Amino acid sequence: MSIVGSGAASGGAQLLPEVLAFSSSLPLDRQLLREDVVGSMAHLIMLSRQGIVPREAAALIRAELVKAYAATDLPDEEDVHMAVETLLTRALGESAGMLHTARSRNDQIALDLRLHVREQCALALEEMALLLRELADRADRERDTLLPGYTHRQRAQPVSAAYYLCAWGAMFQRDLRKLHPPSDLPLGVGALAGTSLPIDRELVKKLLHFGSITANGLDTVGDRDFALDLAYAAARILIQSSRVATDVIDFSTAEFGYLRLDDEIAMGSSMMPQKRNPDLFELIRGKCGRAVGNLTALLVTMKGLPGGYNRDLQEDRQPLLETGPLIISVVRMLRLGLSRIRFDGERGRAALADGATAATDIAEALAQTGIPFRTAYKLTGALVRKCTEAGVPLSKAPLELAQQIDPRFTAAILGAADAVASVARKQNAGGTGPASIDAQIQFLRERAHQAESLARHTPRLGRIFEELKVAAL
Ligand code: ARG
Repeated sequence: MSIVGSGAASGGAQLLPEVLAFSSSLPLDRQLLREDVVGSMAHLIMLSRQGIVPREAAALIRAELVKAYAATDLPDEEDVHMAVETLLTRALGESAGMLHTARSRNDQIALDLRLHVREQCALALEEMALLLRELADRADRERDTLLPGYTHRQRAQPVSAAYYLCAWGAMFQRDLRKLHPPSDLPLGVGALAGTSLPIDRELVKKLLHFGSITANGLDTVGDRDFALDLAYAAARILIQSSRVATDVIDFSTAEFGYLRLDDEIAMGSSMMPQKRNPDLFELIRGKCGRAVGNLTALLVTMKGLPGGYNRDLQEDRQPLLETGPLIISVVRMLRLGLSRIRFDGERGRAALADGATAATDIAEALAQTGIPFRTAYKLTGALVRKCTEAGVPLSKAPLELAQQIDPRFTAAILGAADAVASVARKQNAGGTGPASIDAQIQFLRERAHQAESLARHTPRLGRIFEELKVAAL
């Protein structure tokens, strides 16, 4: 794109066209058009009510802003702010220039980006709530599906598929805390120092549904903490997604075999006709790199910047604008993908059948008879070794064999090696037992509800636009 530019903000007609093109952010921040227009409408209403801009002029400017909100073709300018200003100037001439009274692009972009982040937080919270509900509902249906739980990628202890699903939910519900919509209004601090004109920031705050106003303009124009917060939330959510994806990918292999991908999500190979590849989950895992990269890019952009606004900040655009849609698409795809996996309970039980994963249960059963756990652990270890030597699975350990090790072994203690009984016996909070699963499912539903309610209470751009279209000038 060749940027012509009105020269109004970029230093006039003398600027080298190549330099103007290099410095333009319009290709990216045209995505902020709606935010920019809504911010301008609130600012304009305030200027009019304060008597800084005559009401008739304000009405004409607002009518053009309303048209600009839906503009598809923006003039080639340095950034979205100048593009909107050029649209207004084309329609209204000089009087369009009243809008930029008591405002700088520094506080304007700080506002646009906050409005963008707020909107993306609301959308992301809605998706997260759907994911949590899917996990809770699915857990409810997979209570009796058993499989080994893993540590070090080695079979460790029997758990239910519901427990896995609740674990995934537990990860994502933690990230909800990180999705907090920005609530402080930056507009009104001007370039950095405020303005000598009698503006009313409290009014703009109300019109745009912010909860507070920023305290210091020098800080406000250089602050991108709200962007870092969203980028960090994204990195967290995508890292969780990548970990869930790896469990799904591994468990769908012939080697594990605990689940199968439905035809709707399994992808083929162009050469190997038998393949059912988990590309969807691999892509979810792969996208994580972008989220971490975007967070890193933002952190590095901020590092060492002097106080106030610096043009480096414009480099926030690519990582930040990518972040919201990335969270939303990955969380949505993960939900769709997880709703189309089928657990294979038989394979899960087969993996548990030898009883090896219930060795801890045997040791605990011994400990319950009053034997110190460390002793019980050693006795069970000896039993595992003897069974291995004798070629019998732990679940079939003969009582005589066990009693050769220690006469305190009983049939009931050896019965603890049964996987179903093992899961049922985990009665503590946070474990894989049925009562704990009930509580975990309930917890995920509550967290989903909280996310929905936070999303619902987050002010949305479209609604504010409708309000400002008719607000008194
Ligand atoms: N396009 C600029 C940005 O995105 C807007 C602020 C420009 N301010 C300035 N003093 N040149 O950061």
